[in-house]
Amino acid sequence: MTELNNFLSTETTPEIAKIFGAIEKASFILSKEVGYQGLGADILGADGGENSTGDAQQKLDVYADNVFERALRSSGVIAGWASEESEKFVTFEENKDAQYVIVIDPLDGSSNIDVNVSIGTIFGIYKRVSKVGAPVTLNDFLQKGSHMIAAGYVLYSVSTQMVLSTGHGLHVFTLEQWKKSYHRVLDHVHTPQDGKVYSINEVNFDDFDPKLKRFIQYCRDKKNEKGKRQYTGRYIGSLVSDFHRNLLKGGIYVYPATGEAPQGKLRLVYECIPMAYLISQASGYATNGVDDILKLQPTELHQKSPLYLGSKVMMDEVMKD
Ligand code: AHG
Ligand code: MN
Ligand code: MN
Repeated sequence: MTELNNFLSTETTPEIAKIFGAIEKASFILSKEVGYQGLGADILGADGGENSTGDAQQKLDVYADNVFERALRSSGVIAGWASEESEKFVTFEENKDAQYVIVIDPLDGSSNIDVNVSIGTIFGIYKRVSKVGAPVTLNDFLQKGSHMIAAGYVLYSVSTQMVLSTGHGLHVFTLEQWKKSYHRVLDHVHTPQDGKVYSINEVNFDDFDPKLKRFIQYCRDKKNEKGKRQYTGRYIGSLVSDFHRNLLKGGIYVYPATGEAPQGKLRLVYECIPMAYLISQASGYATNGVDDILKLQPTELHQKSPLYLGSKVMMDEVMKD
């Protein structure tokens, strides 16, 4: 089985490999603490603060943010970062000569932390558009997804896995805890063209637009050639976990606009674009209900966007007029 470091040494540049190396190191720490469920560091429960989108921060949100920031700073190859947990982007002064920046959701699925349900980390890497040697700028982070050069997520679940792409397909690695090393278990993953699963928080059904309501009814009703139900509903409430299951089984994930949240809940820069990049590397695609997520021009660091993402057949069906 190919080890992550060996894979990266042939797949990408030494700088990008170093960035993944930093993510890898931070994920060892997170994986261990998540596995201890509070027997180790003080990671359970609310922190008492709020992040810039007004979400209540959990202790593990803050802990993860610090662990990833430290690892990425010390990689020497990241000039700055924008984290879902901080209002502003940060220049890593000591790395101003570096060429890359990163956008990150250090801990995705906060509501699942205290109940031992799987959670994740989502990240995306861009080449900076500002001058190398100068501080990073907002435009470095507000790039279209079509300019993203690598992305990935770590899933802290029954096992810890890293799923990544550097633009040449999607690959899945599993962490061997005792050796602290990731090994490739799936190569060039393609999500099934049709799926089995639709994932959406249906509590908001009455608020959905007519097109989405019709699609959900279609999923509920659709029978296969044997007269059996074609689709089933599954929703964990951690984007990373819902994405991962649907990637492997085939399916669709939707976090749409609702009455309460006209732009949905998910963040375009930290969640929607990296996940859109990843699903597009696996033969699926992502939209905001109208347009291709990878073609959207972000205008604010913490802006939200509806997200429709998954297998081609289900996506085509939900997008139909
Ligand atoms: P985060 O923990 O980074 O704030 O993200 C939580 C997100 C996402 O992971 C999940 O799919 C969604 O919130 C669930 O929201 P609902 O509880 O509204 O369904
Ligand atoms: Mn999230
Ligand atoms: Mn988060």
